[in-house]
Amino acid sequence: LENGLARTPPMGWLAWERFRCDVNCTSDPNNCISETLFKQMADHMVSGGYLAAGYDTIIMDDCWMSTSRLANGTLLADPVRFPNGVKGLADYVHSKGLKMGIYQDYGTNTCGGYPGIYGYIDIDTRDYASWGIDYVKMDGCNVDPATMNKGYPQIGMALNSTGRPMVYSCSWPDYMRIAKIPIDWQLIIQYCNLWRLFDDIQDSLSSVSSIVEYWGSQQVLLSGIAGPGHWNDMDMLIIGDFGLNQAQSEMQMALWAINASPLIMSNDLRNISSWASSLLLNKAIIAVSQDPLGQQGIRLARNATSETWVRILADGSFAIALYNTATVAATLTFQFADLGFSSATVTNLITQQPLGVVTTSYSAPVQPFGVWFIRAYPKL
Ligand code: GLA
Repeated sequence: LENGLARTPPMGWLAWERFRCDVNCTSDPNNCISETLFKQMADHMVSGGYLAAGYDTIIMDDCWMSTSRLANGTLLADPVRFPNGVKGLADYVHSKGLKMGIYQDYGTNTCGGYPGIYGYIDIDTRDYASWGIDYVKMDGCNVDPATMNKGYPQIGMALNSTGRPMVYSCSWPDYMRIAKIPIDWQLIIQYCNLWRLFDDIQDSLSSVSSIVEYWGSQQVLLSGIAGPGHWNDMDMLIIGDFGLNQAQSEMQMALWAINASPLIMSNDLRNISSWASSLLLNKAIIAVSQDPLGQQGIRLARNATSETWVRILADGSFAIALYNTATVAATLTFQFADLGFSSATVTNLITQQPLGVVTTSYSAPVQPFGVWFIRAYPKL
């Protein structure tokens, strides 16, 4: 979508994977979906250095709403959990220098059963603008996917006509895929800044590796449709949660960056290990993600136990990830000739240490489902 936004893949924080639809603030006041949770997370995005690193948007997911609209059709936040309404929260988020994102659903109800936008597009989009919303995640439960080619553009045009710039995140192609309806990618590129196209991420290695496998299997299509203003969303980063060890978290960060996916964390920034935080804040990897060329990478090679992923960057260098897909540690090797050069100046992107000039090939030990991740500047 050419609305001037998302020139590089969006970065931020989204509630869903970690906090789900926990609405019980009586028994779980620290983790329930509430103004308090988002304010605390906003505070930590600033104090933890995440905003400075580029994670600039905090996004609510499902279950923030009151269960019914007002008589005049207005949608509102649950009044107990959000005593100052969405506007009050958005004002706080903006006062911290962050942007505010919201979740809605194109159907009659959200996936969690709260009121959807269907039939209320004009009222809701005007309200988002007046509340100060900067980013809209539009889910697609509880509606016929065959109507989405009309409905998602209609919502997009309504957002646009408010005059307030809002990043538009669509779940449209995911629901079309599930319904086995052919996807018109040009239409999606035209109307959305980013889109989900595959299963929800869960807090597990198997979920992350299934997403990576899907991207690998669709790489010709997917690397062709991503670019400034329009990105394939691999779903949230689960770094700092429970399902991935350190090596596997490095794999998620590296492959999300190589694939120019949005980097949207879903974790508890109030309580996160220092290695997870350093990885999320890794400037060299974020620079790969946010490279101005915006060319999504590809899986260059694979065999039964490893894969090589590569992304070309604006300065002519390459980000290269050797991904160990075996359940034992292994030494993996990359031949520079596979990219058409014989030697390169190399930086280790995980440690951010220079490795000097490397000739012909390099080999490195990699843990199960980890990566060896470098940036190589070819010597011509
Ligand atoms: C769908 C989406 C998820 C999340 C939930 C909320 O499953 O794909 O990302 O928003 O709905 O109910």
